[in-house]
Amino acid sequence: MTLNIVVGITGGIAAYKAVGVVRALVLAGHDVHVLPTEGALRFVGKPTLEAISRNPVHTELYEGVAEVRHVAIGQAADLIVIAPATANTIAKMAVGLADDLLGNSLLASEAPVVIAPAMHTEMWRHPATQANIATLEARGVTVVGPAVGQLTGTDSGPGRMEEPEVIVAAALAVAASRSAAQPGDLAGRRVVVTAGGTREPLDPVRFLGNRSSGKQGVAIAEAARARGAEVVLIAANLEVADPNGCEMRPVSSAIELQAAVTEAARGADAVIMAAAVADYRPANVSEQKIKKDASNDGLTIELVRNPDILAGLGHAPHDGTLLVGFAAETEPDDERLLELGRAKRRAKGADVLVVNRVGWTEGFASDDNSVVILGSDDEIVTRLHGTKLSVAGAILDVVASKFAHTTDDRTTKAADPA
Ligand code: CTP
Repeated sequence: MTLNIVVGITGGIAAYKAVGVVRALVLAGHDVHVLPTEGALRFVGKPTLEAISRNPVHTELYEGVAEVRHVAIGQAADLIVIAPATANTIAKMAVGLADDLLGNSLLASEAPVVIAPAMHTEMWRHPATQANIATLEARGVTVVGPAVGQLTGTDSGPGRMEEPEVIVAAALAVAASRSAAQPGDLAGRRVVVTAGGTREPLDPVRFLGNRSSGKQGVAIAEAARARGAEVVLIAANLEVADPNGCEMRPVSSAIELQAAVTEAARGADAVIMAAAVADYRPANVSEQKIKKDASNDGLTIELVRNPDILAGLGHAPHDGTLLVGFAAETEPDDERLLELGRAKRRAKGADVLVVNRVGWTEGFASDDNSVVILGSDDEIVTRLHGTKLSVAGAILDVVASKFAHTTDDRTTKAADPA
């Protein structure tokens, strides 16, 4: 389907890379209208944008008044992509300023908005920018990147605009999820989701655990339910009052989680392993509370390996059950992070793997998540930073599209016995 896509380009050096975004969208068959700000035109010329977009480029708020251009562009848009989005534009969007054609078009539109921030690390980390980003995300704007890497000067860090192909993939995924992934696209599917973190008991009052809040897994379960799936939520140490129509199965340790998943996975269309499963458990669980040893300042606890639940499912025949795993990694380098994700996907036999950077402040504790979704050929399907609900939506879009392909394959095979 051809989409009417508005690409807003704002005044940062990464504006030259926005030409790649426009080009990729045009080559994908879409009708692209570029709205550069005055600042953007200092970095990239209007003739270039007109040639690449194959459409006239307007910048003036007071031109085309007869055709009410300041609202017509936004009203007609199916999708708005802003790349690069400067700190200034992000701030203007957060308060709803409309002092140029782009600002007017944004306010006059109900289309989904995807922004790709680009700025220096200090500006990105500034509390004002972070508060503006949070405001935009709460309003449903999808934020792609920024990536970590070399910036314009000699400095490097988070702030680099994502690569055009990543922005385009994320933007088209957002548009597809608005149009195709309506509630009901998972109807008739049985989806098993694990969430939370396991606890490995040491004695009646102590355990070894992890900081997983379970928010991402619960968001996936609830979103799958909202899209019509029958959902079994295997909840490791979660207190979810109302899992919104999901069948909830509480578990605590990895061994309990394994038993629950193995049982629930039979006949399931998808198993989504969002739970943080302990790799080791204490070799011995004391029946009594372990007492301090007065003669020894230290304590050594012997651990044994837990089963790898996802790998167990992935390496057993699981025809018809789509396996989605997560990779929680602390690796700071983007490329290395992806390598670790790809290796993990293969090692576990997962069909889809969600690579998730975690750290002291990232991932587990927060309401937001930054993920890269890898497909079964190790390709990047989506890269997204957003609320855990928007990440859940992106994961389910991938699941739904895999189901659609499987159904297509089955239909083709049935129709063509050769
Ligand atoms: N997982 C699992 N069983 C385990 C450990 C992890 O099923 N014993 C699943 C998780 O639910 C997740 C995926 O495997 O979907 C990856 O988990 P992660 O903690 O990132 O990786 P590990 O396998 O634990 O590897 P490592 O800690 O060495 O990175």
